[in-house]
Amino acid sequence: MHHHDIELPPDTDPTVPATARVYDALLGGTANLAVDRAAADVFAQHIPQARECARLNRSALIRGVEYLVRAAGIDQIIDIGCGLPTEQNTHQVAAGLNPEAKVVYVDHDPVVVAHARTLLADDDRAIVIEADLLDPVDLLSRAELRSFLDFERPIALLIVGMIMQISDEQRPDDVIATLMDALPSGSHLLLTSWPDTGESEQAALSAACLATLGNGWIRPIAALERHFQGMAMVPPGLEYIPRWFPEDPDRPVADTAALEPYERTQMAGIARKA
Ligand SMILES: C[S@@+](CC[C@H](N)C(=O)[O-])C[C@H]1O[C@@H](n2cnc3c(N)ncnc32)[C@H](O)[C@@H]1O
Repeated sequence: MHHHDIELPPDTDPTVPATARVYDALLGGTANLAVDRAAADVFAQHIPQARECARLNRSALIRGVEYLVRAAGIDQIIDIGCGLPTEQNTHQVAAGLNPEAKVVYVDHDPVVVAHARTLLADDDRAIVIEADLLDPVDLLSRAELRSFLDFERPIALLIVGMIMQISDEQRPDDVIATLMDALPSGSHLLLTSWPDTGESEQAALSAACLATLGNGWIRPIAALERHFQGMAMVPPGLEYIPRWFPEDPDRPVADTAALEPYERTQMAGIARKA
C-alpha cells in the first residue's frame, strides 16, 4: 500500500507523530507517516477497538453537522481542530444539505492547514485558517474569518475530537466561553469528548493518547457538561455516541449498560446559545 497522500511542509519532523495523522491512520486514511501508523498500533494495543472509536467520533461529527444544517438551519460553521480531510468532511456534509453553507476550518497543525488549503483551492464556500484554539482572541480577530462569515447571524462552532487534548490548566471552559460570547443568539456548539466514569476502556484510550501524543484526558461527565455552560442542551443532551441522534432523539437505542465498553469511551452533545 502507498502512503504518500500527504505533503509535508519543510520543517515537519517525520519522527514525531501528529494527532491529525494518527487519527487519519485509525480511520484507514493515507494521509499519514510510518510514525503515525506505529502510534495507531499503540492505540490498538491499549484498546483493541481504537479504530471503531475513531469511526464513532467521525459519525458524531457527521450526525451533528446534519442536525445543525437541516434541523437548526445553520449555514455558517467554524470547525476548530478540523484534522485532515477524509470522506464526508464538514463542508461536504453541509453542502449536501444546503449548497450555500459556509465552513471555516481551523487547525494549529501546519500539515493539516497545507493539505486542506490544496483541497479547498477551488471551493469558495470553505476556507482554512491556521490558528490555535488556546488563543481564541487571536482567532476571533482574523480578518479572513470576519469577512467570510456574517457575525450578525447564527454560527455553529465545532470542537470535535479535540477538547480532550486540552488540559485543565489550559482552561478549556474559558476558551469555549470566549468563543461562544463572540457569536450571536441562535449559535450552536457541537462537541465530542471522553468521559471518565471509572471504566478501564476509558482509561485505556486516555493512556494510549498520552503515550503517543502526550495529551488526551478523560473527564467526569459533569466536567464535560461544563463545556456547554450557559447554553441549552439540544435533546438528547450529552450522550454516548451510539445513543446520540440529535435529529431523532426519541429513536430507540441500546441502554447505556448494554453498550460495549468501548462504545462508552466517547460522548457527543450540541447546545444552543439563547
Ligand atoms: C483527532 S483530530 C479531530 C478531527 C476532526 N475534528 C474529527 O473529529 O473528525 C484533532 C485535531 O485537533 C487539532 N488540534 C489539537 N489541538 C489544537 C489546538 N490547540 N488548536 C487548534 N487545533 C488543535 C489537531 O491538530 C488535529 O487536527
